[in-house]
Amino acid sequence: MTVQPVPPIPTLTLQAEHPQDAALVDALIERAFGPGRYAKASERVRELATFAPDLSVCAWSGENLLGVARMWHVQVGGVRAMFLGPFAVEQGERNAGFGARLVARACEAAKAAGETHVVLVGDEPYFSRVGFSAALGRQVVLPGPVDPRRVLVRRLTPDAVELAGLIEPT
Ligand SMILES: CC(C)(COP(=O)(O)OP(=O)(O)OC[C@H]1O[C@@H](n2cnc3c(N)ncnc32)[C@H](O)[C@@H]1OP(=O)(O)O)[C@@H](O)C(=O)NCCC(=O)NCCS
Repeated sequence: MTVQPVPPIPTLTLQAEHPQDAALVDALIERAFGPGRYAKASERVRELATFAPDLSVCAWSGENLLGVARMWHVQVGGVRAMFLGPFAVEQGERNAGFGARLVARACEAAKAAGETHVVLVGDEPYFSRVGFSAALGRQVVLPGPVDPRRVLVRRLTPDAVELAGLIEPT
């Protein structure tokens, strides 16, 4: 019997985003979302938010960038929060848990920095696995049209208040 070679599982290193990473990160995001992403309400948030490279996470295997989760400072109804996105894993590397690890690390970094909430726009069936839920009954409002069921929040501390209100610059 011939034993087939098993492709190596990439060793993942998670790091904050550095200025020199931006071109590779932008290219990964472009491949994952295409130009249509500029029409999204999340993009309107990012236009007004302050980028937080120190709380953003890049997943590397050697010199290959496999995924990214960017983070932004905002406030929601006057309460400071982090806004997560874009979030993407390179096509050939998906379904290996890298996405979940990126989100977990970004939330850990935010909590360690004293932040209490992470907000994003995404699919609840995916993000509920990593601690996010829809703000039922209490709306987090984006500066653009969005399905409210896709506006998800993770509270990083047990005593964090429920977020409600418009997402604005800090
Ligand atoms: C979303 C994304 C980052 C997930 O990365 P990943 O490394 O594959 O994620 P994980 O390995 O942690 O999780 C994979 C699991 O989530 C599921 N999943 C992926 N996207 C999903 C979605 N939109 N809704 C529900 N489940 C989803 C997969 O089917 C898989 O399920 P399984 O564990 O039962 O097999 C990746 O699919 C991606 O880059 N997609 C394109 C960009 C995108 O849509 N980003 C999110 C925008 S908010």
